[in-house]
Amino acid sequence: MLIQFTYFSAYFLVSLPAAKIISRVGYRSRRITISSRRRRRPALFQTQILAIEAEVKDETRFKEKWAFFDFGQGTSLRATAKPFAGDSACNVCHAKNAAVENTFVQFYPTLLEVAQAKHILNSSYHPN
Ligand code: HEC
Repeated sequence: MLIQFTYFSAYFLVSLPAAKIISRVGYRSRRITISSRRRRRPALFQTQILAIEAEVKDETRFKEKWAFFDFGQGTSLRATAKPFAGDSACNVCHAKNAAVENTFVQFYPTLLEVAQAKHILNSSYHPN
């Protein structure tokens, strides 16, 4: 009981600042997908990392509010990356097609419901 209480207290303390940071940074790792060889229950699995990309929202650092980063591919991943220019393919595609600011909330039904309830969908976003 004491261990559980301590664990959840610690988790709560850590999760508050973590949630603030995570709300501003989106990461994506591209991975190799393989299919299982089991005939009765075929499935797809993600394996090695192909590339790591990120998008960061920070109106104090970036003129366009959002910046996109590429941390490299495969075995040549880098610890740092410079933001792409504001007219990069990343910025243009995300700004044009994403449902909430630059994020693709439309592919996550639970998030989409919250965005609809809070009226934060981009005016350019039209489902279907
Ligand atoms: C042609 C359109 C297009 C381009 C160009 C593009 N993206 Fe995306 N990006 C997407 C879509 C669609 C998703 C959502 C995929 C999903 O959720 O499965 C996505 C998801 C992401 C995510 C996960 C967070 C989110 O918003 O859902 C990151 C991070 C990301 N992209 C970074 C980048 C970076 C960095 C570049 C440029 C090197 C880039 N993207 C270029 C369409 C694009």
